[in-house]
Amino acid sequence: LSSLPTEKGWVTSTLYKYQGFWHPCRHLQGVLSCQKHFEAQDTDILLVSTPKSGTTWLKAILFALINRTHFLKPHDNHPLLSNNPHVLVPFLELKLYLEKEENPDLSSLSSPRLFSTHMPYVSLPTSVHDSQSKLVYLCRNPKDALVSLWFFTNKLRIQEMGASPLEEVFEKFCRGVSIYGPFWDHVLGYWEESLKNPKKVLFLKYEEMKEQPEVHLRKLADFLGYSFSSKEEEERMVDGILEICSFENLSKLKVNEEGKLPSGEDYSAFFRKGEVGDWKNHLTAEMVERLDKICEEKFDGSGLKF
Ligand code: A3P
Repeated sequence: LSSLPTEKGWVTSTLYKYQGFWHPCRHLQGVLSCQKHFEAQDTDILLVSTPKSGTTWLKAILFALINRTHFLKPHDNHPLLSNNPHVLVPFLELKLYLEKEENPDLSSLSSPRLFSTHMPYVSLPTSVHDSQSKLVYLCRNPKDALVSLWFFTNKLRIQEMGASPLEEVFEKFCRGVSIYGPFWDHVLGYWEESLKNPKKVLFLKYEEMKEQPEVHLRKLADFLGYSFSSKEEEERMVDGILEICSFENLSKLKVNEEGKLPSGEDYSAFFRKGEVGDWKNHLTAEMVERLDKICEEKFDGSGLKF
């Protein structure tokens, strides 16, 4: 690690630049261990996202979609009612491989295995490329992702050292220095791959999911090969899945209001507002202009807009 470029950055930790992206030390060790050990299976589904893009929501949706027989049983037994989505769909580098020198035993997980990661495309373990595993990528308007990240960071660091000003986080974000940043490089890596290989990578945006959740849930089911057997099943399941995974439902569950990740973060930190466009309440006109301009330049010619 000592040879990598560093920046002060995430809560109290230093960020390290590895394969073009910024990682806190512990997370980077998780990435390295995952790259070394993870053996993807053809049936694996990986949810990849930029931080604060609605990962928790999509984890819940993926779990409910793949395990939809739960809806045939009494509704109040659904695992999502008593487990945080991060437990049901674990992060590779942030959970399963975090602080693990050796290869964790994932053999007891039933197929299809659901994992998630924030790793950039260039850093994915080779077995992910070599297998038939599928990647579902989720990103969000960078202005909302940034504001969400700022609130989340402050929630974590406030006990230790007080809140960091938005200006500071914004400045770094614009320079590409944020956890798993540069944001645009992360997004473009998966965007380009989704164009080249649409059977391997499904590219989703938080805003589009919010606007047309049913459409995107069907898209997700088709992409994963988990289409519904009939129109009737589809209607019933789509409604059931979206209802149980809604912000209103998940954020009010006892487990999500009171529980904590083993690393200490309150589950409640993953549920703030769940809205599109909250950046309007926090960013100044100058900030908006500057970030829009950067994004225009970075995404120019890609066909991608936020
Ligand atoms: P805000 O901070 O804008 O409210 P992640 O899960 O990737 O960490 O992203 C967190 C963001 O997703 C937060 O955004 C959070 O409120 C929002 N979110 C969490 N659960 C959601 C849900 N069920 N539906 C929509 N948004 C949700």
